[in-house]
Amino acid sequence: MKKIDILKTTENIGQEVTLAGWVHSMRKMGKMVFIDLRDRSAKAQVVFLPNNKKLVARAMELGPEYCVEIKGKVNERPPKQIKEGDPTGNVEIEALDLKVLNKSATPPFEIAEENTEKEESREAYRLKYRYLDLRREKMQKNIKLRHDVIRFFREYLYKQDFWEIETPYMSKSTPEGARDYLVPARNFPGLFYSLAQSPQQYKQMLMVAGMERYFQIARCFRDEDARGDRQAEFTQLDIEVSFADQEDIMKLVEDMLIKLVEKVSPEKKLSIKPFVKMTYKEAMDKYKTDRPDIRENKEDKDELAFCWVTDFPMFEKREDGSWAAVHHPFTQIREDDKDKIFEGKLEEVEALQYDLVLNGEEIFGGSVRNPDPKLLADVFAAMGHSKKDVQEQFGHLLEAFKYGVPPHAGIAAGLDRIVMILAGAENIRDVMAFPKTLEGRDMMMEAPAEVSKSQLNELGIQIRPKP
Ligand code: AMO
Repeated sequence: MKKIDILKTTENIGQEVTLAGWVHSMRKMGKMVFIDLRDRSAKAQVVFLPNNKKLVARAMELGPEYCVEIKGKVNERPPKQIKEGDPTGNVEIEALDLKVLNKSATPPFEIAEENTEKEESREAYRLKYRYLDLRREKMQKNIKLRHDVIRFFREYLYKQDFWEIETPYMSKSTPEGARDYLVPARNFPGLFYSLAQSPQQYKQMLMVAGMERYFQIARCFRDEDARGDRQAEFTQLDIEVSFADQEDIMKLVEDMLIKLVEKVSPEKKLSIKPFVKMTYKEAMDKYKTDRPDIRENKEDKDELAFCWVTDFPMFEKREDGSWAAVHHPFTQIREDDKDKIFEGKLEEVEALQYDLVLNGEEIFGGSVRNPDPKLLADVFAAMGHSKKDVQEQFGHLLEAFKYGVPPHAGIAAGLDRIVMILAGAENIRDVMAFPKTLEGRDMMMEAPAEVSKSQLNELGIQIRPKP
């Protein structure tokens, strides 16, 4: 590829270069044409001078978002014309040749315009034409930041001797609180896979399997209504470690995050180091929430205040009076509280669960796991599961835990949320390439969508007519 990044033009003053990208904006001035040429690295001003009439005539034909290749000479701007704050503000490209690689229809909204108010009103368009929306500088920055964060996590964990291991997305329902997305199994009419709500059980199985230090950038699927910090399909940085306790996991995460911020968002300032720690009870007493925002100055967009919340209750009462696990049933119970399960004092049972909150958003959640199959069965029974249910749903885990399961603990991060906060975005949609709407629609692909009769027949599925 002969093209160089537009940002690199500043290192090539006096040279002839080939650039390629999109016509960001265009001004025709008498016998001259100026365009701002954009690629993912930067924008730069290209000038078509009157001395080359043929070239100017061709430049006149350009339009916004045309994809072009330009040969040109990089000229240094005289000091008075330098555009301060613009990364290519000290150069101007004098066009020597122009090739239209592809024309563009008039985009349904202006790519060049950055206007938050308008952005919101055209949300539906932004999602339908996501490939155009993603051309905007802000979105390019967000996607690049997301890449930087993922890359950092991977490299950090490789250095700490973690193995990156993939686990299935098509699995069996796990009791993590949300509704499952179901996938019909063609070879087993009437049976369904369920898309994993998280890799929780698999990563615990990997600990039984002796993998010791596991991580994964994993997609999770939870059929729940979306909101600003929640999508039905989202990404976790998922971690599990054998022979580790709560302290080990918290230390690992804390060190990793401090280094992450230094590396990818050095403009942010960590207002409190080491991270604040408080118990669930302290958080509820003092802040009336288990996600306290402890920033000193909530107006300061560059302040990051991390806060651990620990010692959560193990169980919570649902509206229908039944008991559910606050985190998940695989969480270890505080040693002194184990008997309370049989004494019917479920509300007093504390779990070895820890959440990490950043500026009022829960960004990590994890726990020490309960490796005792007998105690696990008691936890399920306390939540009202029959022995038969437990055997059907979790028999595999109880069986696996008979074979020398190591003590283990883990945690998972909401990757989208971390990037959202670092990017200063309001919504996790802004840091996902192809997010869904609040109702879970993919506007660009128009999913969900009908499928053919023959596909349904193969799956043995008949759609009930709408009532
Ligand atoms: P949990 O359910 O707390 O734990 O999820 C971990 C983190 O994932 C993020 N998160 C979400 N982000 C975007 N959209 C969603 N719908 C969404 N739901 C959760 C949050 C949360 O802190 N298996 C356990 C982890 C463990 O115990 O190791 C789990 O999934 O930032």
